[in-house]
Amino acid sequence: MSNRQNCDSGSLSPLELYERVTTQGDKVRSLKAAEAPKDEIDTAVKLLLSLKLMYKATTGQDYKAGSPPTDFTPINNAPAITEDDDFVDPWTVQTSSAKGVDYDKLIVRFGSSKIDKELISRIERVTGQKPHHFLRRGIFFSHRDMNQILDAYENKKPFYLYTGRGPSSEALHVGHLIPFIFTKWLQEVFDIPLVIQLTDDEKYLWKDLTVEKAYEYAIENAKDIIACGFDINKTFIFSDLDYLGMSPGFYKNIVKIQKHVTFNQVKGIFGFTDSDCIGKISFPAIQAAPSFSSTFPQIFKGKEDIQCLIPCAIDQDPYFRMTRDVAPRLGYPKPALLHSVFFPALQGAQTKMSASDPNSSIFLTDTPKQIKTKINKHAFSGGKDTIEEHRKYGGNCDVDVSYMYLTFFLEDDDKLEQLKQAYTSGALLTGELKKALIETLQPLIAAHQERRKQVTNEMVKQFMTPRKLAFEF
Ligand code: TRP
Repeated sequence: MSNRQNCDSGSLSPLELYERVTTQGDKVRSLKAAEAPKDEIDTAVKLLLSLKLMYKATTGQDYKAGSPPTDFTPINNAPAITEDDDFVDPWTVQTSSAKGVDYDKLIVRFGSSKIDKELISRIERVTGQKPHHFLRRGIFFSHRDMNQILDAYENKKPFYLYTGRGPSSEALHVGHLIPFIFTKWLQEVFDIPLVIQLTDDEKYLWKDLTVEKAYEYAIENAKDIIACGFDINKTFIFSDLDYLGMSPGFYKNIVKIQKHVTFNQVKGIFGFTDSDCIGKISFPAIQAAPSFSSTFPQIFKGKEDIQCLIPCAIDQDPYFRMTRDVAPRLGYPKPALLHSVFFPALQGAQTKMSASDPNSSIFLTDTPKQIKTKINKHAFSGGKDTIEEHRKYGGNCDVDVSYMYLTFFLEDDDKLEQLKQAYTSGALLTGELKKALIETLQPLIAAHQERRKQVTNEMVKQFMTPRKLAFEF
């Protein structure tokens, strides 16, 4: 099971790395002193250099002989090793490539594992279900410990799902649906409890919003989430502003996490500085806590050892690297993760769709006409400038945003493949590809709006009431 082995390679602690560099340095010196053959020395030097690089990538500092790392800093993504590396953290996604972020590189940098064919077939074998197209098409592309979850499922050991959303505005865009669509599929396939965190506190801390407004957005967003079709008997949705104050289980876990993470560590992971407010600095503990089952005593009857599986976009991974790092020190299981790619902006895959720029996004509230206009006007095209050239050379699906969106939302594999071939060969023009996307999105969004209308305040209240779910623990 190559996957299981991969899981923690690349996640040596700074101290372990430090010791390896030191040992390797000694080895190089003694080889040189003994006038060993040149290629032997070269190999040893090469290994020494790559260990030093790993040390720097992990700690953010250069290796210094005689001064071991004093404070544990988990792997972080802060020090970009070369200028053209992509930048990814919970707040910023930027790359210079029109194809989007290099996700294979990100896996190496974050120390996660690729969702490869082997894992996808194991999911199919274990669940007896055809893998979701998000898995088949590499939209969920990276994981941590998913094999453990499948072991648990095979052994009939319980686990639960946790995901969330930061309610920064009233309107969600289609990209926001990705984790929820996938989470709903996981809930159906595994038949397990699901908790959904609405981090209105986070948005209050980071944005220019009042507490009241942030809470209002949380409730509005909950309606869109409910409209994705979650089972009311198996799902608990909570606003931090609401639930934290009424749940000793939640708060106890928050302080336990806070006691075991230093300022230095969160600085390394999230890039906080001395002038960030203390609310931001302590927030990661609040996003971490729902990864532990004792945060929800009403659901898990106080059990502390139910493992958690978190589907999320890869930019949320820093929170959960921190969570996985503290879990053993609290005697809790580490949460497993499934990571998705970002949903590209209409203007191109250099950045992710942002709710604050109306032209970069297609909103769940858009009318069929708005959807059509936005795609025709703003969707970045991989087609050629003139029809003649396009027919001759064909379009480039790797950078074409309409094609990318179709991979997310057009479920029919054959139809997608046909479009790709026709576009690449030049038989299909950009306008025609855009039409295929418009015709896919219009009914999908209209259906969402219809389901959202059916969501009553009473239902929202029920989803958001702390209660036992339809599972015995
Ligand atoms: N911080 C996330 C956001 O801004 C919201 C969130 C909270 C979340 N808990 C989560 C996302 C768990 C994924 C998984 O959107």
